[in-house]
Amino acid sequence: MCFHPQAYSWNSTYYVQAFKNMDIANTSKFLWAIVAAISFSGLLSLQSLYFLMWKWRSTKSHIVELEAALAIALKQRAAERTGRIRAQRELRQALLGGKNLKEGNVVAYPMTPIGTVRSCFSTRNGTPRQPMLVSLARASLVLSSKGVPAESLDGLLKYSHCWLLYVFHENTDLPSLWKQPAHKDFKAKVRVPRLEGGKLGVFATRTPHRPCPIGLTVAKVEGIKGATLLLSGADLVDGTPVLDIKPYLPYCDSVPESSAPSWVQAGGEDDVIAMASVSFTENFATELAKCWDVMGKNSLYSSQVEIQSLVEQVLSRDIRSLNQRQRPHNGKVVYHLILEGINVSYSLEQEGVVVVEGAALDCSFKHICSRDTDPRSWRHLFHKS
Ligand SMILES: *[C@@H]1O[C@H](CO)[C@@H](O)[C@H](O)[C@H]1NC(C)=O
Repeated sequence: MCFHPQAYSWNSTYYVQAFKNMDIANTSKFLWAIVAAISFSGLLSLQSLYFLMWKWRSTKSHIVELEAALAIALKQRAAERTGRIRAQRELRQALLGGKNLKEGNVVAYPMTPIGTVRSCFSTRNGTPRQPMLVSLARASLVLSSKGVPAESLDGLLKYSHCWLLYVFHENTDLPSLWKQPAHKDFKAKVRVPRLEGGKLGVFATRTPHRPCPIGLTVAKVEGIKGATLLLSGADLVDGTPVLDIKPYLPYCDSVPESSAPSWVQAGGEDDVIAMASVSFTENFATELAKCWDVMGKNSLYSSQVEIQSLVEQVLSRDIRSLNQRQRPHNGKVVYHLILEGINVSYSLEQEGVVVVEGAALDCSFKHICSRDTDPRSWRHLFHKS
């Protein structure tokens, strides 16, 4: 073969010349080879065409299948949504007692406490009227095991204080509130002891007897152990249901230029009367030791000495009711106060001089006398052993 330019151009003369030079047998062999080659390649391309068509068809049917599945899923999602919306509407309707959802008709919203407070204040008597008055007051809030995970408290330890929204669960008028939640019988004005029987609008006071018996308080965040939040300074009664916890933000929650009437200010008329002194008898120490033997492992405090300090702090203010204070009494009157299930008895030697005389365990507060360690107790939380 020579690489003559003619070999690359279409030159029929060149091919005719080649045929002429072959004998007949060779020529037919050659032709057959060409025919075979052509048909083989044709077969091959037909096959690949068929394969491509099959492939395309199966892809297409696959796409159709996917589209159908997507349509079904979307339909289901839409059905779920309408179902959910209908359920929500039905729930609201049920809460409204079948009334139409219009403004003014709303009767109640579903709010379940997130947890319950275990507090050193076993009863309302002795529980401070305001937070932060008794710094030794301790409380532990255990989140409800149903639906409020311990992780909900993550990050709260970074704040020194928190707000607590709670229910005044010991209000004696709660049963009537259940029957009549629409505020029909609610009294707009309340008597304020500090105003010598003078009345004020309920929203100008912090009375527990409010149209919505919700309390607000601030407490010091002491620690977090699992689903338990440890607090101090709170003015909460044992067993208080808590609705919400929010961090206290000093930059916006404390208002430096704020003002209040004189009767609510510290040292003002509303400030609880400070006692001159609090002392303890030897009998008290002996009886407290007996109590501690039984309830120490369930206490919010780590020693009997700490409990005595708490008693001192609580009684350093006059916690007696106005009635108790004004009642004329001849001779010695013994008063009682229950802290951590311990019934503490005290009397006034003279005006403002408190003598703490005795201590007796009141096992109607079951957790305090329980043989099992209370999971909310100090020992359980800090000295797991
Ligand atoms: C405390 O104990 C005394 C008896 O020592 C009792 O009369 C009083 O009712 C008790 N206080 C409370 C609140 O249970």
